[in-house]
Amino acid sequence: ALPISESEHCCIIKMNCFDCYMEDIDMATSMVIGTQWGDEGKGKIVDWIAERADVVVRSQGGNNAGHTVVVDDKAFALRLLPSGILYDNKQNIVGTGVVIDPKVLLQEIEGLEKQGRSAKSLQVSDRAHVIMPYHIALDTAEEASKGDAKIGTTKNGIGPCYADKINRIGIRICDLYDMETFKQKLAYNVEFKNKMLTKVYDAEPVSYDEILADYIKYAEALKPYVTDTNAAVLKAVKEDKKVLFEGAQATMLDLDHGTYPFVTSSHPIAGGASTGAGVGPNYLKNIFGVVKAYATRVGAGPFPTELLNETGDNLRELGHEFGTVTGRPRRCGWLDLMVVKYAAGLNSLDYLAITRLDILDTFKELKICVGYKLNGKDVEGFPANLKDLEACEAVYETLPGWETDISGIREYDKLPENARKYVERIAEVTGVPLGIVSVGPNRSQTIDLVNVF
Ligand code: GDP
Ligand code: IMO
Ligand code: MG
Repeated sequence: ALPISESEHCCIIKMNCFDCYMEDIDMATSMVIGTQWGDEGKGKIVDWIAERADVVVRSQGGNNAGHTVVVDDKAFALRLLPSGILYDNKQNIVGTGVVIDPKVLLQEIEGLEKQGRSAKSLQVSDRAHVIMPYHIALDTAEEASKGDAKIGTTKNGIGPCYADKINRIGIRICDLYDMETFKQKLAYNVEFKNKMLTKVYDAEPVSYDEILADYIKYAEALKPYVTDTNAAVLKAVKEDKKVLFEGAQATMLDLDHGTYPFVTSSHPIAGGASTGAGVGPNYLKNIFGVVKAYATRVGAGPFPTELLNETGDNLRELGHEFGTVTGRPRRCGWLDLMVVKYAAGLNSLDYLAITRLDILDTFKELKICVGYKLNGKDVEGFPANLKDLEACEAVYETLPGWETDISGIREYDKLPENARKYVERIAEVTGVPLGIVSVGPNRSQTIDLVNVF
């Protein structure tokens, strides 16, 4: 923490020396970001790094996320709770950029407690926006009205809640503790949303009285956790605590940079953690891009390496690729390094965390996409126009498989040569060094090459 005594310092003007200040915090934060379309195994990687962290922060998304963490062969499916919650001694923060369904959060806390764990370390932002029943109703109605053009959302009200925030009519956690403001905002919203629900979508209206009564109860139950998390994160960072930012969703689902409109409504890229957690970008260090060793996508939208054949079905079965939240079968395909390269730049990735390498154990040959061709020409960068992206042909390299069970291997050098070649080729094409290689869902099934913190 600043100030540091003069003798330890390279300059005399302690508080104003940017170099010393940055050097001081250089190793104190880390971040875990999805590089593909979600479900890369971010929860597992966060839980792994969190062992050495003091604070874990969620900064965007909501209960559309499903992060599975396995501890002692017991699986925990986390949706809003940060993946550091399974340790007893960490501060766990749900930051300002997260949209919170209080009912789901309370159920999650209760579920955790039933499993003998505690959520007492949880802090929830007083500035975060609240998902209301009309958001869920509108998400469902909007999807139904789109027919074949539907996005395939999780129907948790994520998009409509973020839309209200942008439209400056949203209800924030702090509003729940100011009855006059809450009632006034709720009345305005219920009247307006009921017109939309009944007159535009021919759906059932929601009830002001029921919502008011329910949310008063939720607010009371959540009160012990609610605080100014922006200040808490900043304090932790300045005190040189080890702060780990947990991304939800992934780069290709980013509202601005993903395959719009087949995206989520937040910013799952590294910059989103800065706005969402309320800390400046200079505090964000040691950024891990989580790369599933093959590719999956839930919901609609372009997917250039999708395998609509037996190989795809094989991947789905071997990897049990079904949604944590919705149970939907995930679309499967070969690893697309055009996507990971795009993610490397957008997130200024420091390291790759490659997960689920063990799922590829039985393949004789593996393909990785190293480029796209459009109308016979090499594609530079990542296409914005979805018609172009859909028309892109993936250019593959074929690598030999290792045809060995790697799930028990704990040292990088002991991985079969072909497995090492596979992950090293990913690092080479993307220009991002390997940080972690994961060979199974358990904590112990992790090969850590950098050991941040
Ligand atoms: P997230 O949303 O990015 O946290 O990922 P999900 O939890 O939705 O999906 C990843 C799944 O893979 C979870 O069931 C994890 O327990 C599991 N997992 C994570 N890493 C590995 C790994 O290296 N090998 C295997 N077999 N499973 C893994
Ligand atoms: P984690 O954190 C995979 C997808 C949905 C849909 C689109 C928009 O577990 O990786 P939304 O409900 O957010 O409006 O849906 O985004 N999606 C995810 N896909 N993993 C996730 O989270 C996702 N969160 C949203 O399937 O296509
Ligand atoms: Mg998931």
